[in-house]
Amino acid sequence: MCGIVGYIGEKNAVDIVLDGLKKLEYRGYDSSGVAVIKDGRLQIRRSIGKIKNLEESIDKNYLKANISIGHTRWATHGKPSKENAHPHTDSTKSIVIVHNGIIENYAELKSSLKEEGVEFKSETDTEVIAHLIKKHYKNNLFFAVQETLKEIIGSYALGVICKDEPNKIVCARQDASLIVGIGKGENFLASDIPALLSYTRDMIFLENGDIAEVTANRVRIADIENNIKDRKVKNIKWDCVQIKKEGFKHFMLKEIYEQPRTIEDTFRGRIYPDEGRAYIEEVKLSKEYIKNISNVYIVACGTSYHSGLVSKFFFENFAKMHTEVDIASEFRYREPILNDRILVIAISQSGETADTLAALSLAKSKGCITLAVCNIIGSSMSREADYVLYTRCGPEICVASTKAFTGQIAALYMLALDLARRKENFSKEDLKRYLKELWEVPAKIENFLKQSENVYKIAKKFAHKRGFLYLGRNINYPVALEGALKLKEISYIHAEGYAAGEMKHGPIALITDNMPVVVIAIKSRVYKKIISNVEEVKARGGTIILIASESDKTASDKGDNIIYIPDCDELISPILSVIPLQLLSYYVAVILGCDVDHPRNLAKSVTVE
Ligand code: M6R
Repeated sequence: MCGIVGYIGEKNAVDIVLDGLKKLEYRGYDSSGVAVIKDGRLQIRRSIGKIKNLEESIDKNYLKANISIGHTRWATHGKPSKENAHPHTDSTKSIVIVHNGIIENYAELKSSLKEEGVEFKSETDTEVIAHLIKKHYKNNLFFAVQETLKEIIGSYALGVICKDEPNKIVCARQDASLIVGIGKGENFLASDIPALLSYTRDMIFLENGDIAEVTANRVRIADIENNIKDRKVKNIKWDCVQIKKEGFKHFMLKEIYEQPRTIEDTFRGRIYPDEGRAYIEEVKLSKEYIKNISNVYIVACGTSYHSGLVSKFFFENFAKMHTEVDIASEFRYREPILNDRILVIAISQSGETADTLAALSLAKSKGCITLAVCNIIGSSMSREADYVLYTRCGPEICVASTKAFTGQIAALYMLALDLARRKENFSKEDLKRYLKELWEVPAKIENFLKQSENVYKIAKKFAHKRGFLYLGRNINYPVALEGALKLKEISYIHAEGYAAGEMKHGPIALITDNMPVVVIAIKSRVYKKIISNVEEVKARGGTIILIASESDKTASDKGDNIIYIPDCDELISPILSVIPLQLLSYYVAVILGCDVDHPRNLAKSVTVE
């Protein structure tokens, strides 16, 4: 993870780099730093923690320059400290670099450089790159970077400047995103689109193996062997307003409230409930192929993995396809049976998660048809997969994922219905009914959000508890996992999600009057079963927070802490039942004074293994 930004042009480069880094803080915020070339000398400033610490510690006027690179770090090798913060230099301080990724053979490279007399200043894997570039430098920075990359194994997005060539930034990409922003008499570099949107909408997405020489007026791209690469400039249509808080206290709250719109945007033009038709134009699988699919594998991490677990029910119930869901970091290191009759779906908000990307590539190499469900246009996964189905959620800035989860569920629900239609194994009436359920979701969420005060009151009552249990069954079991993940990642309270029927096999021992138990008990085919689990908790003195269907007249017998959600079919219910859980974790974190949008130790995009 980590974010990098670079600028070359007429303006004050440090201002632009700091501004870009703030937009990339979601990628990590253990430490940050900038480097400029001013009056023929390199100036480097680094600081621990968020970008505002760096900004407060530097004199921007003193650092005024026309070229700069900067970095915000999420530590992998070496603790978060000033010494380990990027940028890193060679021993003569003539080359300086910023890096996102992991250099897998850094230990070998480091020890041979040490034998040659090189002194290391940090514990990072990155520093070897700076020393290697210096070693290969013969008045040609681009060439020195090419030679260095021949020795490096691992992933990188790299930005390099050299005091002896102050008119260029050299950058390179391998398995970590990197974008070159195109301006007029100025050019930019960044890990991700939001960093550059205030300056340009014209961007080149570098591909694996690309090395670019960026001057104020020109971008030249070649590979390690100097073969020129012609990359298209893409115009980004997003609006910058989407990445502002718009009056909300935190991005997380804004993103929770955006969900009626993001879900609607995701299904707009893709479903026609009156006609009983879902039509996902982007996924151009032939009828023959669809009928021939033996299995669907879904691979993902974190929240996206939970949406995969939900979607399994769609593929099995609608499309009648046997479906397995795997954590991407597990999938890639076992020996999954893969062939051309298996459809592999990678789900990822960012489209950059290293493990998911590797799982996707593995599937592709084994001949599977691959589909990426992503939110970020032009992301690595969207380019790697055979097909891409975009959720249209706009930038998700808060580290804790909310609107991406519901967008993914909407997208996969439609896809499964489209496959069911094309397999001709689902009646038109059923299609109409299920599509209508999705169609009605935005209005239902909107209505629910009007009573968020109730969720706040419950959060206030329980915010100081040390542990929470979340229970769900069937399609709402992954929602229990997701509710627990949300709570632990932003409020640091230990929370476990469990399949309610499994409670009696262990977790029931945890239940005391001090342990709130959040139970998703909406009307469904397992309603009676989960109510029995509620009784089991109550019998042991546990306190229930119940997520119930609006029309459930008996819910109030289960206690005082009830959150009603609009009635819906159980197959669409996760998209609604997760909303109170998102809000509950948000309010608990706010009450506890946690840094909601930037939880400790985390980063938004996990682009390292
Ligand atoms: O960008 P991705 O969807 O691939 O990210 C996967 C996970 O890193 C992500 O969902 C993570 O678990 C979130 N912090 C959860 O809120």
